[in-house]
Amino acid sequence: MTKVHKPYVIFEDKDHKFVWLGLDESEYEKGILTNQYLIVDGDKGVLLDPGGYFVFERVYENVKQFINPNNIIAILYSHQDPDVIGSLNLWLDVSPEAKIYVSALWERFLPHIGVGGIKIVDIPDKGMDIKCNNIMIKAIPAHFMHSPGNFHYYDPRAKIYFSGDLGAAVFPEGKWYLFVENFDEHKKLMEGFHKRYIATRKAIDLWLKRIKDLKIDIIAPQHGSIFQGENVKKFIDWLSSLDKVGIDLMEVDFQQE
Ligand SMILES: [Fe+2]
Ligand SMILES: [Fe+2]
Repeated sequence: MTKVHKPYVIFEDKDHKFVWLGLDESEYEKGILTNQYLIVDGDKGVLLDPGGYFVFERVYENVKQFINPNNIIAILYSHQDPDVIGSLNLWLDVSPEAKIYVSALWERFLPHIGVGGIKIVDIPDKGMDIKCNNIMIKAIPAHFMHSPGNFHYYDPRAKIYFSGDLGAAVFPEGKWYLFVENFDEHKKLMEGFHKRYIATRKAIDLWLKRIKDLKIDIIAPQHGSIFQGENVKKFIDWLSSLDKVGIDLMEVDFQQE
């Protein structure tokens, strides 16, 4: 039986909202489940990793409950993967005012999905502040935490940290929940992904330094479940505890061969 989950407002204060844009569990058939988020500030909106081709219709319908898509002024991409950028062409049609923000490493690759004449802002490796109506969203460098040109986005008003593929959990079919409740159980669904998709332990150390002064109430990933309350710290501590990831583990494998 298909389970369709309605959007959920994670944070709301006066004219500012941070919204999770729903889920249709039948999307399992189209690959790994993905989360999309919308920041609304006043009458302007910002989309975070709006997703692949097949989720567009669900995401678009849910966005319209909160904002006129013409008022989306920015689409922020964490990296270049198909589950992140696959719907870009469709968004350009319905949100013509949107500027596209992506790592300077990936800007030249976007035309290959058939887009032209778009307003792309290259994010430099060191990151940048992105003005959205009355707030400044921070693009936080997270290179090699997944992609070589990788950004997370921090909403200082909501104190929500959008972590892209960091924090991803891969659920067995039929299992899913929006918020992490039992961290020790949840980490089992994250371990394989993080050990293979993070390039090296050094990337984790650099990222930990980058975020140490941010006040983070919620970590919202592109796959899996949202961390709030004590689970934010538990997630960061768990990540710090991963001694070897990516190429660190491959070196061990090579030595064994
Ligand atoms: Fe990815
Ligand atoms: Fe992803």
